[in-house]
Amino acid sequence: MCGIIGYVGNNNASKIILDGLKMLQYRGYDSVGVAFHGGQNVNIYKCVGKVEDLENSLGNIPSFTCGFGHTRWATHGSVSYKNAHPHDFGNVVLVHNGIIENYKDLIEEFNLKDILKTTCDSEVAAALLNYYYDGNPFSAINKLIKKIEGTYSFVIMFKDIPDSLFAFRKVSPIVVCKKEREVLLASDLMPLSLMSDRYFVLPEESILFVNKNKTTLYDLNNNVIESELKTIDWKADQFDKKDFPFFMEKEIVEQPDCVYKTINKRIVDGLISFNGDNFDESILKEIDSVEIIACGTSYHAGLVGKAMFEKHALVKTNVSLASEFIYAPKVFSKKPLFIGISQSGETIDTIEAIERVKNLGYPTLGIINVKDSSLSRICDYTLYTDAGPEIAVASTKAYTCQLALLYLLAFSCGLQRKVLDENKVRSLIDELLKLPELMKQTIDKRNEYHLLTKNYLNHKDLFLIGRGLDYLTLLEGALKIKEITYIHAEAYASGELKHGPIALIENSMPVLALITQDDLILKESSNIKETRARGAKVLVIIKENLLPQLNQNIDTIVIPNCIDDFVVFVGVVILQILAYYIAIDKGYDVDKPRNLAKVVTVE
Ligand code: AGP
Repeated sequence: MCGIIGYVGNNNASKIILDGLKMLQYRGYDSVGVAFHGGQNVNIYKCVGKVEDLENSLGNIPSFTCGFGHTRWATHGSVSYKNAHPHDFGNVVLVHNGIIENYKDLIEEFNLKDILKTTCDSEVAAALLNYYYDGNPFSAINKLIKKIEGTYSFVIMFKDIPDSLFAFRKVSPIVVCKKEREVLLASDLMPLSLMSDRYFVLPEESILFVNKNKTTLYDLNNNVIESELKTIDWKADQFDKKDFPFFMEKEIVEQPDCVYKTINKRIVDGLISFNGDNFDESILKEIDSVEIIACGTSYHAGLVGKAMFEKHALVKTNVSLASEFIYAPKVFSKKPLFIGISQSGETIDTIEAIERVKNLGYPTLGIINVKDSSLSRICDYTLYTDAGPEIAVASTKAYTCQLALLYLLAFSCGLQRKVLDENKVRSLIDELLKLPELMKQTIDKRNEYHLLTKNYLNHKDLFLIGRGLDYLTLLEGALKIKEITYIHAEAYASGELKHGPIALIENSMPVLALITQDDLILKESSNIKETRARGAKVLVIIKENLLPQLNQNIDTIVIPNCIDDFVVFVGVVILQILAYYIAIDKGYDVDKPRNLAKVVTVE
């Protein structure tokens, strides 16, 4: 979950590394550190806090041409100065992203207990590498790789090898960008985009050596190997916050455009085509079930996807939390299609679950935002969302783009399975293409919704209630509220209230109700009355045509009319906006909520 960056070249390494670390901070931001090779010695600077704190404390440091940096999300060892990376042990200085699972055994085996200075698994790797190092970095790294278990990416300096970096990895990513006499490597593409649009992914079971004059990739038998150069699609200015106070607001505002792009490029002659994705939709004809696997927001998108597959393609669909999937009994239908959904494509639980079913011989499809991410390299097919870089930890535009792809897949599956005919699919596509404009109208009114959030600022708990698709939308809304406002927000299927949760309603408790489904208004209206009768202060988000039937004197946010199946796109935008303004008014750093990281690479 940490971010790593390394640089060797003729320019000022400290500026490049600090700027790059700022772009990687969404991966973790509890402490930060950098190391520069000064020829005779290695200079290490670190602090608890964010990159900006380190930058301020550094002042004017000399200009170096080789160095690396690390922004941490603590796993092993508390958040402290000594546990911040880089780790310095003997001849070795390193940064690490991932987890060394057998670090305790290694401490025992190599008798390290009394000589380690930190409680980090990463320092154990540094100690071991130093133990193996006898002047030959490659044989030392090779021995280390054979000893450690877990997932990792490492960038390493040896104190007696000036101006050079070494890197290797397992699962956790490292991408590398090379220009004449200049090399930049990092945990993801964002910082690389500052230098070039060409990069390669460091292969597993290889060791990268870089200095100013050469960048060489070796396999574990010391043979030089080639890497495949790829092109970064995202432009450097997409990583810019522009005039928005937070990335989250920028990303909310970008949604209509991203959703439009995700849909429109897959519409050919009025019908859905995944040819541009190298995915032959006739595969959808053969399947007898869909198994969706994901975490967090991507899981919530999967729940809506299930509703669409079951309604429009009449295909049984299950949705599993990736972290639970590995423990579940494996009873699948004869011809399932597994779909892994992930914004980052680096979520370790999703990767492991999809890897498992792939190894069992099942077809796998990824719905992913980040190109060439680890999950996309595992899946048989990948459909990329066109959300562009999502930097705020709270996912917004990735979710609505995931929905867009799931809807397209469900309709296409319906057509392949002859549940839908071409005319019906064309009319569904027409409706889908109206959504970006409806989302935009809603987003343009965001200042009005802001006024309604004042009621929530001083409450510790918030209920969100709804039925059917509304309940699924609220699950995502509750996650947004939890992660950025720290209010304990729970979504409940309204019908379940009387089975327990209503016991928690007390005077003045805030409740948010979502009503967008024509056939559910009467039942939902009763549920709202039940909570109000117990003192709840209810705000209703309601589709325009249902307003007369609500018939209660109550605060409302009105959603423009659209077909029930599609309202999720608009409803969720309102919930994102409410969460955003509550967090802002509480004075929180919306983009970097406490305890969280954007990319979850630990189980
Ligand atoms: C969303 O707001 C969260 N930050 C989180 O739940 C996220 O969706 C989850 O970690 C899955 O990430 P992925 O889509 O990159 O796999």
